[in-house]
Amino acid sequence: MGKDVIIALDFDSREKTLAFLDRFADEERKPFVKIGMELYYAEGPSIVREIKARGHKIFLDLKLHDIPNTVKKAMAVLSGLDVDMTNLHAAGTKAMMEAALEGLTRPDGTRPLLIAVTQLTSTSQERMEQDLLIEKPLDQVVMHYAKCAADAGLAGVVCSPLEAGKVHETCGAGFLTVTPGVRFADGEAGDQVRVTTPARAKEIGSDYIVVGRPITQAEDPAAAYRRCVEEFVG
Ligand code: C5P
Repeated sequence: MGKDVIIALDFDSREKTLAFLDRFADEERKPFVKIGMELYYAEGPSIVREIKARGHKIFLDLKLHDIPNTVKKAMAVLSGLDVDMTNLHAAGTKAMMEAALEGLTRPDGTRPLLIAVTQLTSTSQERMEQDLLIEKPLDQVVMHYAKCAADAGLAGVVCSPLEAGKVHETCGAGFLTVTPGVRFADGEAGDQVRVTTPARAKEIGSDYIVVGRPITQAEDPAAAYRRCVEEFVG
């Protein structure tokens, strides 16, 4: 799969989401979009079907984490929704990741790309040590989780663009890096701390960039999306 820009549809209703997507009606390229917990819990699986029917590729960002059997069954349901990418927490262990892959695989052998979350970017070294009793350096933990995900057969990880190069070194060039924390050089960072431009993310080797507010809050979202694609995909 080639490089692509994924727009984070961080809206809380069907109406807002579809009104936003209507602004792309004249675009030649239908954006790949991410549906997260907020929209999915507000609207349920019907919003996934509706956006899919409009011709968008979908990354369903629900970050599953439970016992292997439960995750396997939940993944089978998500696979039936015909999404293109979905994810889970690597912290659920290799057994959980393997069960997830099994659940996600359709009778014809195809399946959505399965991506792992390593340590959330909201987790600091201090919180990891004190709350999770994990005492190794955070970057080592992230790489270890990525390696576990690769060993389990997953397609890639969600990580910072700044970590994408190291993930490829550790897990192979074909192991996908899906990277949020992207901002235009002349844009606002908002609450993201370590940010990169789409062009820089491309240089470092991100496979997919996930972009929310720089596109969703732009005066002309379609133009902002086009700019992202030009910088990142070329
Ligand atoms: O608006 P912004 O571009 O910051 O949105 C980034 C998207 O990526 C949001 O949906 C956010 O939840 C998600 N994300 C992130 N950092 C992570 C994982 C996911 O920003 N580590």
